[in-house]
Amino acid sequence: MAGVVSVRLEVVDLTILSTFEQLVGAEDDFVLLHPDEGGVPDLVILEYDEANPDECFARIHALQKAAVSAEIFLTAARADPDVLLKALRAGVREFFKQPIEAGEVKRALARMRELRADASEGKPKRQGKIVSVIGGKAGVGTTTVAVNLADCIQALDSDIVLAIVDLNLRGGDVPIFLDVNPMRGLQDIDSDLPRLDETFLSGMLSRHETGIQLLPLGEVDLLGGYITSDCIESTFPLLRTMFDYIVVDCGHVMDAATETAVSLSHTVIVVTSITIPAVRRTKRLLEQIEALEGDRSGRKLALIINNHSVADDAILDDAQHVIGRKPFWTLPLDHELACSAINEGKGIARLAPKKELAKSFQGLAQRIAEVEGAQHTSSIFGSMFRSLRGKRNKGVSNAKEKR
Ligand SMILES: Nc1ncnc2c1ncn2[C@@H]1O[C@H](COP(=O)(O)OP(=O)(O)OP(=O)(O)O)[C@@H](O)[C@H]1O
Ligand SMILES: [Mg+2]
Repeated sequence: MAGVVSVRLEVVDLTILSTFEQLVGAEDDFVLLHPDEGGVPDLVILEYDEANPDECFARIHALQKAAVSAEIFLTAARADPDVLLKALRAGVREFFKQPIEAGEVKRALARMRELRADASEGKPKRQGKIVSVIGGKAGVGTTTVAVNLADCIQALDSDIVLAIVDLNLRGGDVPIFLDVNPMRGLQDIDSDLPRLDETFLSGMLSRHETGIQLLPLGEVDLLGGYITSDCIESTFPLLRTMFDYIVVDCGHVMDAATETAVSLSHTVIVVTSITIPAVRRTKRLLEQIEALEGDRSGRKLALIINNHSVADDAILDDAQHVIGRKPFWTLPLDHELACSAINEGKGIARLAPKKELAKSFQGLAQRIAEVEGAQHTSSIFGSMFRSLRGKRNKGVSNAKEKR
């Protein structure tokens, strides 16, 4: 338990007020503050005044200034998407459309309770591994590799918690690949950096059905944007404490934020394909990464050839010679499958697990996990042992298949 949560209701409509009084009052660990009571509440439930929107947002900002750690829930008669977006961007955590649905409020209070419990129990921090994926050239398959690598690492073991970060500042596609429609992301963190903590960061993540958590660019995913290096420097170490793996789609341009992400990475995957422009640009990019300042002692660099077909075999040696590095992995060409996966918002290995490209992604995920020193059961054995463990109520830690 994270102690009692103090709540202040700033609600004018008497019916709505009494609904919240009942719902909050019914929770043992939430206590309503009297309207005249001073002090900083843990939670403020605010009513949106359609006639005075500016006043309402001024109040939200004032609350955040006065009580940086306070959570704000908002309720309004209409769920106008513009208001909703502005409220979320202003830092409002939950929104309730009127008439109030009791279940929604209960679930929101439960989420808040969970977040506070996690924070106060000081659960053991993870020490996640950052795997950045950057393209030797536009269109070589950087997002395809980032998304499918993330999906296949996640599938190695259901205990893995993984985040994928969209840092393609030329316009991030990861939400499209995962078929999620997030409204907040890195840009919102960047514009409110002093508020960054685990709770704030959690509010920026969107959960995919596989369990993968997505940290997108933000509202301008499709248009691209700008992220400061400070934002990456603050956000990535925090992500490491929350996730086992953080896979980053860096796009194909090494700007300041990307450079910071690459510098902080444990493994940097450079994706390319066997075409003259891609090979030439990849060589330059690899040199740029190798010359990066900072602690490079543990950073690994892996070259992946994507879209590989038998016809490329004849020129693969020449390409390797120009690039000056042997590929760590090659991913076969399968245009139909790669496109279907995007159209269906699914990982390639989940969509067609028997196809060569799917198996190649599974193999790559296993190799990357090994490179990062992790040992995971394969998903089939993992789920089999987990179900046995459930049935027999026995520990199976020594039964896990170690590679
Ligand atoms: N192994 C593959 N076989 C066939 N097609 C592929 C393969 N990998 C990716 N593609 C296709 O190539 C196209 C570009 O892929 P993707 O969007 O991942 O590239 P990108 O490098 O991220 O592009 P951008 O520079 O625009 O971000 C997509 O249509 C995708 O389906
Ligand atoms: Mg991309």
